[in-house]
Amino acid sequence: RGRATTTSRSSLPNARSAARFCKRLRRVEEAVMIGRSPNRVDGPLKVGGRAPYAYEQWDAGQPLYGYIVGATIGKGRVTRIDTSPAERAPGVHMVMTHLDAPPQGARDESIPFEYWRALPTLSSPDIHHYGEPVALVVATTFEQARAAAHLVDVEYAAEPGHYDFTAHQDQEYAPEQLIAGLRPDTAIGDFEAGFDAAAIKVDQRYTTPYELSQAMEPPACLAVPEGDDLTVYVATQIVDAARASIAATLQAAGERIHIVTPYVGGGFGSKLRVHAEAMLAAFAARALRQPVKVAQTRQQTFHLTGLRPTSSQRVRLGADQDGRLVALGHEVTMHTNRHIEYAEPTATTTRSLYAAPHRLTRTRLVPLDLPRGEDVRAPGEAPGLLAVESAMDELADAVGMDPVELRIRNEPERDPERGVPFSDRHLVDCLREGARRFDWERRPAKPASLREGRWLVGYGVSAAIRGHFQGPATARVRLNVDGTAVVQSDMTDIGTGTYTILSQVAADELGLPLERVRVELGRSEFPASVGSGGSWGAANSSTAVHRAVEALREKLLIAATSDASSPLHGLDPAGAQFSGGNVHIGHRSEALSEIVARIQPDGVEAEGSTVWMMEDPNYASYSIHTCGAHFAEVRVDVDTAEIRLRRMLGVFSVGRVLNAKTARSQLIGGMIWGVGAALEEQGVVDTRSGAFVTRDLAHYLVPVHADVPEIDAVVLDGFDDKANVLGAKGLGELGICGAGAAVANAVFNATGARVRDFPITLDKLL
Ligand code: MOS
Repeated sequence: RGRATTTSRSSLPNARSAARFCKRLRRVEEAVMIGRSPNRVDGPLKVGGRAPYAYEQWDAGQPLYGYIVGATIGKGRVTRIDTSPAERAPGVHMVMTHLDAPPQGARDESIPFEYWRALPTLSSPDIHHYGEPVALVVATTFEQARAAAHLVDVEYAAEPGHYDFTAHQDQEYAPEQLIAGLRPDTAIGDFEAGFDAAAIKVDQRYTTPYELSQAMEPPACLAVPEGDDLTVYVATQIVDAARASIAATLQAAGERIHIVTPYVGGGFGSKLRVHAEAMLAAFAARALRQPVKVAQTRQQTFHLTGLRPTSSQRVRLGADQDGRLVALGHEVTMHTNRHIEYAEPTATTTRSLYAAPHRLTRTRLVPLDLPRGEDVRAPGEAPGLLAVESAMDELADAVGMDPVELRIRNEPERDPERGVPFSDRHLVDCLREGARRFDWERRPAKPASLREGRWLVGYGVSAAIRGHFQGPATARVRLNVDGTAVVQSDMTDIGTGTYTILSQVAADELGLPLERVRVELGRSEFPASVGSGGSWGAANSSTAVHRAVEALREKLLIAATSDASSPLHGLDPAGAQFSGGNVHIGHRSEALSEIVARIQPDGVEAEGSTVWMMEDPNYASYSIHTCGAHFAEVRVDVDTAEIRLRRMLGVFSVGRVLNAKTARSQLIGGMIWGVGAALEEQGVVDTRSGAFVTRDLAHYLVPVHADVPEIDAVVLDGFDDKANVLGAKGLGELGICGAGAAVANAVFNATGARVRDFPITLDKLL
């Protein structure tokens, strides 16, 4: 996409040596702020209600309100649509349907990631899933739009659709590739022979339900037209993708679309791409030449944002008497929307987790007429580890071995499928440290043997692993004449703490206090990044900021040491230190503000970038992951099978942590989501209509405070020098990886009953 991929460098003769010295010095100066726990720099704005989210951009002009009318069939077509009663309703400005929606660009599958592709909306009478938009009503107020939406009269020719995953599994097919270009199938050695010959075998099938990422802020958009330009305030994880997708859909030039998204209320994959609300707000704003805002209602999010596919996973583990794996097989079948394929990388987690000479992973898709699958936090790893780490617990039980020891026994020396070394793997350390902290030795060796009154008590463990990804990101850093710095990138902060960690990195490396750095994010006019997603945002953007500061330091040092009027003139930049807003060389120093005033009073700028991991040799030479271990204690009522989590601990290895507080929050959030996956969450579809009947947070259960009495996440000290110069890896999605299996395994340890159909609800346990 033609973004800059190199750090801009001065061509002055001593530039290279200055850069080298900067690098050496950094190890001395770093870690004033990096790794510590400053509060979120955007915290006061957020808790004060002054952080404007997409729907709350009150200064952007008086908007009209759009309300989406969704299809009430799952498959078929609109045969007649009568909008006149709605058009006559109070306050209504427009009712748009497929009959008068603007011409749109088609979805282009040659674009590597879905998030950048067009999303045709109201583009034909055909219905591909229940809830698909059939009209948009625009009115003066939200209430008027919603009321009029009920007056839109739609007639359909319904066709029989496939809505039942179990009933249509015989129609499975092999996808060409998984998301991110991963291979759907792998085979090493001779799995079938290895498994047949194994002394101890586990061969089980696990099923996981539809799951949805329900961000606190539902997908929302305010589109403001101005001439040929359109400013789009939209909840998104990737600004560059939002711009590309909206431009491609509108058939507009990318430069005409301006994305603004300074604050995003959660994403978890659901805002990697923008959805129908963004396209419809854009259509209406252009048609009416007025600002229009459209949000999905909570109910609509269940059909209009993608969901995690339901899965059926066969796991086969063959081991010798000592629990050493000889054969490891993971075969996954998932649903996909019939028209827009989505293949979650669910079997891929198994590829780097345990040693075994004979290995097999396999992915198949069952086409259904349901909303399309999309990334939901830890896409693939979360459901994949639920199955594989349950199976490992079954193996420990079959071998008669402690499940922590079983995992340690199967620790690979190198990546077992790629054959390359791990960059920085401490799974065994996580397991041992977690076992120590959790008092794992108190676990009853025999299931259902520890009872406290009406409660059966059990302990469970699970491993966590997640690939570390890197994509292109550019950041710009400007040092102002007043001695403050400004960092700019189109990177987003989806509640994860981007503003804070980038402030920390820039402050440390410029030797400025945190409050003298201002981070500006989430605008398409800033240097482009691949945003927040796949747990790559923190590492990409902090590395880009680091490189930008590196280039900026170089400019400042060259200017100062080569300028006769500087106290640093003629000194060797090798001795330079940046601290307290000054550059020090030996006993002499000069204020950063003075250097800026002399060389460029309107501010000195530099940019820094990261590249796709395919272009980074470390990613070919090493297997780069984060990992961890989860421990859970549950109690189960002997009569009612009520399951209560008692406590949970995760110990993680993620390289270097940028902010200990936001890191822990991310990890705990993921772990809690894992509790939900084990015990509560499930999207239930009405297999007659293709409608989800769990359509709000009263029916789609997620853990609440009372479900999570005691939880902690601990991160081992680390630095992965193969991942990037800061040694940091993303951790947002690691917390959920494996977490549910620790809970499920604790339920087994408590009761002796194994439930393989998630979530583990009481009816299945009784
Ligand atoms: Mo990630 S699926 O963007 O949480």
